[in-house]
Amino acid sequence: MTTDIITQYATKWYIVLPILIIGYNLYSYANRRYLLRKLGAKEYANIEHDGWCGFRLPFIILEKKKEGLLSEYGSERYKFITNPHIHTFTFLIFNLPLVNTIDPENIKAILATQFNDFALGKRHKYFYPLLGDGIFTLDGEGWKHSRAMLRPQFSRDQVAHVQALEPHVQILAQHIRKNKGQLFDLQELFFRFTVDSATEFLFGESVGSLKDASIGYPTPDIDFDGRTGFANAFNVSQNYLASRSVLQDLYFLINDRKFRDSTKAVHKFADYYVQKALNTSQDELDKRSLGGYIFLYELVKETRDPRVLRDQLLNILVAGRDTTAGLLSFAFYEMSRNAQIWNKLKEEIYERFGSGDESDLESITFEALKKCEYLKAVLNETLRLYPSVPQNFRVATKDTTLPRGGGPDGLDPVLVQKGQSVMYSVYSLHRLEEYYGKDADLFRPERWFEPETRKLGWAYLPFNGGPRICLGQQFALTEASYVVARLVQLFPNLHASPSDTEYPPKISAQLTACLQYENLVSMS
Ligand code: HEM
Ligand SMILES: *[C@@H]1O[C@H](CO)[C@@H](O)[C@H](O)[C@H]1NC(C)=O
Ligand SMILES: *[C@@H]1O[C@H](CO)[C@@H](O)[C@H](O)[C@H]1NC(C)=O
Ligand SMILES: *[C@@H]1O[C@H](CO)[C@@H](O)[C@H](O)[C@H]1NC(C)=O
Repeated sequence: MTTDIITQYATKWYIVLPILIIGYNLYSYANRRYLLRKLGAKEYANIEHDGWCGFRLPFIILEKKKEGLLSEYGSERYKFITNPHIHTFTFLIFNLPLVNTIDPENIKAILATQFNDFALGKRHKYFYPLLGDGIFTLDGEGWKHSRAMLRPQFSRDQVAHVQALEPHVQILAQHIRKNKGQLFDLQELFFRFTVDSATEFLFGESVGSLKDASIGYPTPDIDFDGRTGFANAFNVSQNYLASRSVLQDLYFLINDRKFRDSTKAVHKFADYYVQKALNTSQDELDKRSLGGYIFLYELVKETRDPRVLRDQLLNILVAGRDTTAGLLSFAFYEMSRNAQIWNKLKEEIYERFGSGDESDLESITFEALKKCEYLKAVLNETLRLYPSVPQNFRVATKDTTLPRGGGPDGLDPVLVQKGQSVMYSVYSLHRLEEYYGKDADLFRPERWFEPETRKLGWAYLPFNGGPRICLGQQFALTEASYVVARLVQLFPNLHASPSDTEYPPKISAQLTACLQYENLVSMS
């Protein structure tokens, strides 16, 4: 009898469905009220609407990304909220509520003081096809383990070994000379430079992508399937990962043939190194380790699972390669447009390390580079205006709060429910006038010698903070400093393409940032 009634009503979906929806909404509302009270949070001072319950915004974002205006659009969104002086708001993506913040207090909470309340969460799903399980996709024990394995790679001795960069600089210089003072794309060369040095540093053998026929190397030192197409495939697949993140829970919709093919090509590249390491005998591995810590060889001592090895290699390559290439490219982009800055930098480098044929290579050490204050200010300023990871997010692991953004003045805590994503944009944070002054959009390294700029704390965050702070910070800054110093010595004249007058530049914001188009300069 009762089952009859249930079946009768259950088939009447037009009665049951509305009841379920209303019931669910009532429950959500009551639960939210309860959590607000229990956790002492207030309603968000800022709510952003796209007018379509979040069904329009993702497409605007993808469009802006394609145009190289994603980071800029992120900043604009903060300017058009109801209370632009309060740097936190909620918004919808496909009816799913998300949080956006550039308030240093909130960012500090997510990354450090409330580290356990947040995780990478969904990033694992978005990135999995390319990166599998590694330091960039894992939380918890898997992350801890990956980080512990990597840490010795960044000991002072390893990082300080700048002489290892010189052979790569020499080859880079051959490419620049080849253009005989005419315009060429410097960014593409930096990408090849950093993959060459990163594969040597991390995998024990450089892929040698700069050595090509145009500078007299008709046959590569090493050759394997996947070597030549790697740079492009790596770029294409990272682009897909970034788009998948934009779609949030609908990420699986972005998974087409081109994505799968480029992922496969990238995997082939990594598999060469994996196979090579697996082929190497234990004796040989031990012998090589004497020369210094090489991540790949240490990994192989721990596991012989090719899949695990490949994932670990690709994760560190994402971290270590494109970031530094982007930093170098943006630095030269700015300096090629600012003769005063370029000349001031030249003065510092020549005074310390000599110039041209008088260059004293032995004096360019890790310690000596650290003392080049103007060079450091140039790199700081580049990472301020063009942070390598312009936007990022974390997902709440439980019902929790962020310290600011609630109540009429935005000074009360706000609620973040379990599973909810919080996006934060270091790009927009680094351009806030209240921290950087009225000229926040201007490239001006001198600001780093002013007392206000030195006390920024969590308002300057190119390398992240807290337990997941960038492991490669010292390595990256040392490598970039060395390359800049050497190029300043070898090529005193640097000029941007006179026909390229667009400023600010379009930025390609995938997982990491670089110039959207070529970095056309002349150097001699
Ligand atoms: C300009 C250069 C660089 C910048 C601005 C930079 C910035 C960052 C940022 C913002 C993160 C945090 C990502 C997140 O938690 O979502 C990060 C993480 C990381 N970076 Fe860097 N990075 C740079 C270069 C490098 C280099 C050269 C390496 C290694 C060779 C490296 C290794 C790592 C690793 C392993 C992590 C993951 C840390 C973890 O999750 O525990 N980075 N980096
Ligand atoms: C590894 O060994 C296999 C078989 O011994 C060989 O076919 C392959 O080329 C080697 N791979 C590398 C990268 O040395
Ligand atoms: C660069 O920024 C860091 C903060 O990350 C700061 O400690 C350092 O003093 C700055 N260096 C220069 C030369 O401005
Ligand atoms: C990577 O691809 C994006 C678009 O797919 C492009 O804007 C960017 O310039 C490319 N970067 C490199 C280094 O090739």
